[in-house]
Amino acid sequence: MKLLEPWKLALIALGIVLFMALVIGLLVYFLLFDKEIYFYNAAFTFTNIPYGPDLEKQTSKQFRDLSTGIETLVTRTFRDSSLDKKYIRSHVVKMRPDGSNGPRVVAEVVLMFHFASRDNIAALSERVKSLLFRQVQTTMGYLATDPSTFTLSETKKENGEHMLNNCCGMRTSKLPAYTDRVTGGTSAQDGAWPWQASLQLRGSHRCGATLISNTWLVTAAHCFRGQRDPSQWTASFGTVIQPPKSLRYIHNIIIHEQYADNPSNHNNDIALVQLSSPVEFTSEIRKVCLPEASQVFPHNTSCFVTGWGALEDNGECVNNLQQAEVRIIKTDICNREEVYNGVITPGMVCAGYLEGKVDACQGDSGGPLVTADTRQMWYLVGIVSWGDECAKKNKPGVYTRVTYYRDWIATKTGI
Ligand code: ARG
Repeated sequence: MKLLEPWKLALIALGIVLFMALVIGLLVYFLLFDKEIYFYNAAFTFTNIPYGPDLEKQTSKQFRDLSTGIETLVTRTFRDSSLDKKYIRSHVVKMRPDGSNGPRVVAEVVLMFHFASRDNIAALSERVKSLLFRQVQTTMGYLATDPSTFTLSETKKENGEHMLNNCCGMRTSKLPAYTDRVTGGTSAQDGAWPWQASLQLRGSHRCGATLISNTWLVTAAHCFRGQRDPSQWTASFGTVIQPPKSLRYIHNIIIHEQYADNPSNHNNDIALVQLSSPVEFTSEIRKVCLPEASQVFPHNTSCFVTGWGALEDNGECVNNLQQAEVRIIKTDICNREEVYNGVITPGMVCAGYLEGKVDACQGDSGGPLVTADTRQMWYLVGIVSWGDECAKKNKPGVYTRVTYYRDWIATKTGI
């Protein structure tokens, strides 16, 4: 038996390696990158849900409960089917009355799928439709629907995105890793916290702020201490301060009437900022959801605080937005002698850790403290207000409690 010459062996080995690399490369491409998001618009008419104007408000309990029911059901429909791997999510974007047959409730839902270019889109669309149609014909759990009015249509990517961009509290779908290390945080990805704004005095970052509509920001009153002239201020959007995704002048600053402008006071630390012209919502600029005044965020709720503030006490502001996970601390605990010894009022909420290490810091003021509900929509719980230095033991961050000022916000902005 004659062995192959070494150079021939080497050539064959090289050939095999190259071939494998090609196969793996193609596999990775087709499995991971050759995918497009497809949007569908569905409308369900319910026959057993009483219509009320609260149903038209995305953040009302009625809207949230009904949407949760619908989304869960739609998700289950696809999870139990051959489309499981291609289904991304569904989202109720609107409820409206259907006048023709007494006030019945129509829910408009956006559905998202990942299809590959080699997929037969027409056949898949048919499958989506027939699965949903079977669902409305049989039952939708406790929801009684009228199958004759069920509609489903494919919609352009721009339309689908537009509808999601206009919803409150939606982050961009490519979710960042929640590795939490503000102080003890991590850099945020683009679109991760699209409601975050930077308030700048003559072009330099002073405070964070949160978009609650396309023209209104909510922030802390103390940001404007001695600087109440709107013409000196601008707001920027996007995860980096320089260069910003968008920039706006300020038309008006409304400071809470009971806010007393002296450095030792932290009560009523809330202000509203009206932009000179509306921002355009994109995947990276969106509004947060405002909770109803009656909403309760329990002790230990996981929240995120974001901002361009210092990474340590007396540190410098940063260019890339930072995020940190903190937990709500109940006022009884926060008012303990060794913590803040009774100075926490009903308009404040504490969040962080008694052991310290993770916290907001100087330059984060005015920025958002948010938490997600079960639908993964993000609500504004607090506004960064004050703290004894940053991330110190027994000195958690103190935030303006948004539910406490919810009616004040509505009075001033109509939101
Ligand atoms: N007052 C500070 C500011 O103007 C924010 C303080 C927040 N401090 C804290 N430890 N959480 O930016």
